[in-house]
Amino acid sequence: MIKVGILGAGAMGSGIAQVASQAGHKVVLSDRDTDALKLSEEKLSKVMSRLVEKGKIDEDRKKEIEGNISYTENLVDFSDCQLVIEAIVEKIEVKKTVFEKLEEIVDGEAILATNTSSLSIASIAAACKKPERVIGIHFFNPAPLMPLVEIIPAVQTSDETTKKSRVLIDTWKKKTVLAKDTPGFIVNRVARPFYGEALRIYDEGFADFATIDWAMKEIGGFRMGPFELMDFIGNDVNYAVTESVFQAFYNDPRYKPSFTQKRHSEAGWLGRKTNRGYYDYNTDAKKPEPNTDVKLGENILWRVLVMLINEAADALYMNIASRDDIDLAMTKGVNYPKGLLKWADEKGIDHCVETMDRLYDEYHEDRYRCSPLLRKMKKDGKTFY
Ligand SMILES: NC(=O)c1ccc[n+]([C@@H]2O[C@H](COP(=O)([O-])OP(=O)(O)OC[C@H]3O[C@@H](n4cnc5c(N)ncnc54)[C@H](O)[C@@H]3O)[C@@H](O)[C@H]2O)c1
Repeated sequence: MIKVGILGAGAMGSGIAQVASQAGHKVVLSDRDTDALKLSEEKLSKVMSRLVEKGKIDEDRKKEIEGNISYTENLVDFSDCQLVIEAIVEKIEVKKTVFEKLEEIVDGEAILATNTSSLSIASIAAACKKPERVIGIHFFNPAPLMPLVEIIPAVQTSDETTKKSRVLIDTWKKKTVLAKDTPGFIVNRVARPFYGEALRIYDEGFADFATIDWAMKEIGGFRMGPFELMDFIGNDVNYAVTESVFQAFYNDPRYKPSFTQKRHSEAGWLGRKTNRGYYDYNTDAKKPEPNTDVKLGENILWRVLVMLINEAADALYMNIASRDDIDLAMTKGVNYPKGLLKWADEKGIDHCVETMDRLYDEYHEDRYRCSPLLRKMKKDGKTFY
């Protein structure tokens, strides 16, 4: 079994180290910050103790998992790792420098992976002498609990690197999907309207936060409403992702950020972590009541859903991923109740195209352009499945 190096002992690096160790690998976890390493070790011990208390593992297994991980500040300790996954700060120049250094340490066959959420894998690979061994392996937070992993080959990545990476991560009991090296990969691209269209509905004054969340959960079956979820993720974090996807797509209006979210973020109303976001989380705060008018709720749900379906169809049209991987990514990466392309079939492709065209007629904004794939499918009478 190969030895795995993880660089960055923050939220993601620590989680990935746990997953690799549970899968039986010897893991080297490195960070330039000793405190981060200490914190990571303590956190893992707590998580393992909780698993023992719940009867999920015994003391021996706890010791084994903890014993598999060694902590170091020294990158040289990666020298006998056949895979290194980088999970440091999301800055392209820092990542490039680190990859250059890593290549001098590991052997010629080792795979170098990045867990980046938003940066181009091609530009990170370009920092290396052997870019064919560089790949994106994108876990979701928290890595031990979220089953999805996006595998993202850059244009330079060899087929062998892609195949080896996918086969390995599959053995870590994860669901892997293959995604093209484009902004947001699958999940962070296709999910944009869940936030963006919900904010637009609010901005236009159709409904308040509580009503939109109620419609998406109670009628749509989503586990969390968009505003609850943005408060959970943090408005600063969610806004930054939206803005970076918007810019990366050359200001495509489909991904345009909302002033409401920007202002909430600027006000320091970041969500649960500040006790105030779209909702007030202080103990004495009164929870706002939704308007439970079913017709209104169905309209809200369908407008967000059709935008999500359009986005998923366009991702397929642009060969970002396969039909099955797009549906799997949204159900396993962000817990959607159903794959969006499957949902499109159920709702009817005609209905999707008609709604997109009605929205476009109403607003005359490029944001509401219907994917050419949906239009073609309507013409040919086809379905996704
Ligand atoms: N947090 C998420 O929800 C999430 C989800 C998927 C992917 N990601 C990506 O994973 C990566 C890490 O995110 P995170 O949330 O774990 O960050 P984090 O801030 O929790 O941890 C980053 C760690 O990297 C260390 N670090 C920074 N620069 C370093 C360097 N040059 N050398 C060694 N260590 C260094 C820091 O000390 C810190 O401990 C980012 O690329 C991020 O985009 C994050």
